Amino acid sequence: MQEIKFYNGENIPLELHKVRVVQKLHLVPIERRLEALYEGGFNTFRLNTTDVFLDMLTDSGTNAMSDKQMAAMMQADDAYAGSQSFYRLKKAVEDVLGKKYYLPVHQGRAAENILAKAYIKQGSLVPMNYHFTTVLAHITECGGRIVELLYDEGYVIDSNHPFKGNMNIEKLEENIVRHGAKNIPFIRMEASTNLIGGQPFSIQNLRDVRAIADKYHIRVVLDASLLGENAYLVKMREEEFKDASMGEILKTMTDLADIVYFSARKLSSSRGGGITTNEEVIYKELEALVPLYEGFLTYGGISVREIESMAVGLYETLDETMICQSPKFIKYLVDELDKNDVPMVKPAGVLGAHVNAMEICSHIPQTQYPAASLAAALYLIPGIRGMERGSASNQRDEYGNETYADMERVRLAVPRRVFTLSQIKYVIDRVTWLNDNRELIGGLKFVYEPPVLRFFMGGLAPVNNWPEQLMAKFKEDFGDSL
Ligand code: F0G
Repeated sequence: MQEIKFYNGENIPLELHKVRVVQKLHLVPIERRLEALYEGGFNTFRLNTTDVFLDMLTDSGTNAMSDKQMAAMMQADDAYAGSQSFYRLKKAVEDVLGKKYYLPVHQGRAAENILAKAYIKQGSLVPMNYHFTTVLAHITECGGRIVELLYDEGYVIDSNHPFKGNMNIEKLEENIVRHGAKNIPFIRMEASTNLIGGQPFSIQNLRDVRAIADKYHIRVVLDASLLGENAYLVKMREEEFKDASMGEILKTMTDLADIVYFSARKLSSSRGGGITTNEEVIYKELEALVPLYEGFLTYGGISVREIESMAVGLYETLDETMICQSPKFIKYLVDELDKNDVPMVKPAGVLGAHVNAMEICSHIPQTQYPAASLAAALYLIPGIRGMERGSASNQRDEYGNETYADMERVRLAVPRRVFTLSQIKYVIDRVTWLNDNRELIGGLKFVYEPPVLRFFMGGLAPVNNWPEQLMAKFKEDFGDSL
């Protein structure tokens, strides 16, 4: 794709879409934001969007749909069984992902549930580049364990490695030899590895994983929720693919996996999800679980309207001008914050910009959840809702002990085609202010801790009155500005 250059030399991402439907936003006064924090247990998941200005919690189900996706929803064929909508989607899956069997599920974690129920037993081990919260929960729930095999580079927050999501092939082989191939139902590779900052793997690395998997007769499962963006970054960063089309890159990746599953809330800017394969035996192993947990095989718990928008959304991942929008905005956000000395996860990845809370809040011990504290402060000061991605999102170990995250970050998601550049500039301005006033941010403690996926509904409280002091400083500097 050709870059669009500005006469004045400025390097800003230019939107290649226009806005045709809008939603009003509310920036409530800071006093209300403080109240909302207390009401929501200092957990950004528990905020109501009436109190949120820029919702950067996630890109899951929050991407802007295209006019063509909306139009497709009108032709949905309502049928419990054999809906035409399903067959249109099945064809899109085959055309875009190159797999002929498709099992629909209502979202990504439902695919993880089915794969875990089918393949994980007590004592199973799943090697992966890195975990995602929901996949880890499903695997452990079925008695399995995971091992994360990133190269050391993947854990370096401030790095220029282009493929931090790569798997360490030597460690993979070592683990297979140590634990025995028969205890390893599959190797999982996650595209645009979410929890390390939306960092891609290279196709060469996936080929190397495939070679080891073949050597030991183990299946490869690809989490393709963020596959479009991984493909875009392959095109940008992997020499061999610089002239390849998105379609070629996507299929090169999916061809290397036996099973591809995804959350359509991300991949196709719709709802839903799926599991796909070219192998009939795999299809048969999983088929019966779909009606049990999701719905009949031609809708899988997804509304037919969403099935239609998903089919169109899948084809749209082939359009580089569409897929590049969010990564380009993220790059702009990361580069500008970096210029302002805000510690960021680098290089810029996909899904969102990741702020390094471990460094900004180096005065807050991990026992007091620095990333959750920063996420709360980021809501209080600018009304931006980010997501904690640190120790508060970790699950306790099998003995009930806290496990501390390798990295403490706040993720500021940039859903596809949702924000304007002036909104992104506002984010840069307020995050910079907060970094300059970081010593005023204090720690948090859990006051309500659910046993599973505690970060979703857990409640926290500040260890002292730091939120009030931070608010006072904001008012001193910004006067009556919202
Ligand atoms: N895999 C990855 C890589 C994900 O990022 C997600 C969801 C899932 C699986 C589960 O999919 O939500 O449709 O059930 N990530 C969301 C996020 C929740 O905010 O990053 P789901």
